[in-house]
Amino acid sequence: MRKIGNFISASDTGEWISVCCEMLSIRIKETLAQQTQFYLAISGGNTPKVIFEQLIKSNYLSNDEWQKVQFFWVDERLVPTDSPESNFGNAMLFLKQLPAKFHSMYDAALGEDASLERYRSALQVIPQSNGFPLFDLILLGMGEDGHTASLFPQSAGLDETKEAVFINEITSLKSRRMTLSFPVLLQAKESFILLNGVKKISIMQEMIAGEQAYPIENLFRGNNPKHWIYCK
Ligand code: 6PG
Repeated sequence: MRKIGNFISASDTGEWISVCCEMLSIRIKETLAQQTQFYLAISGGNTPKVIFEQLIKSNYLSNDEWQKVQFFWVDERLVPTDSPESNFGNAMLFLKQLPAKFHSMYDAALGEDASLERYRSALQVIPQSNGFPLFDLILLGMGEDGHTASLFPQSAGLDETKEAVFINEITSLKSRRMTLSFPVLLQAKESFILLNGVKKISIMQEMIAGEQAYPIENLFRGNNPKHWIYCK
């Protein structure tokens, strides 16, 4: 049984950003009424940037609330944080003004193995289930090849079930990236999948019709609530 989730369509980019901000801030507020920390994993790419810029500018959350949010990353390129390729570096350009806690995935000074070990221990602060961290919310994007996180088509990482985080060889990009594995994405308490643009919507429609097998479809194996928030 494929648990696809529910779909929220915005009429334009402005509404899409507002819906994402409203849903994200409501979820953080609701969760912080029940627990002292909010464990959030955000993706790279351009999508989270526009959402967090608006979220910060419009003061959806107080500093008191932000102090209880712990940011993790879904995936990362193996570059220094001051590289324009760095998901952490790009996000921190605006997130740094928040009194939240940030856990970067990759530190060029440490190198791959030590960065991986450091992130694996950072993930231990999060309550665990089935040996994997139980995020309160994961924000995911999707590439135009149907990848999510750094789980790309034909990459070995699609089948990773032992480690919560690992380095995936991505032959299509001739590159390697650190990424959370599907067992972590599948058991998050909730996922928001944020899509913008006609090409991505058509991929989403193909997936709903069951016509193609894209990496992101592995999310359908999870019983957790998934919200596809999109606009053309
Ligand atoms: C990355 C991201 C990646 C992203 C998709 C969508 O490191 O690039 O984590 O998985 O979510 O490529 O990117 P956009 O949001 O920029 O379209």
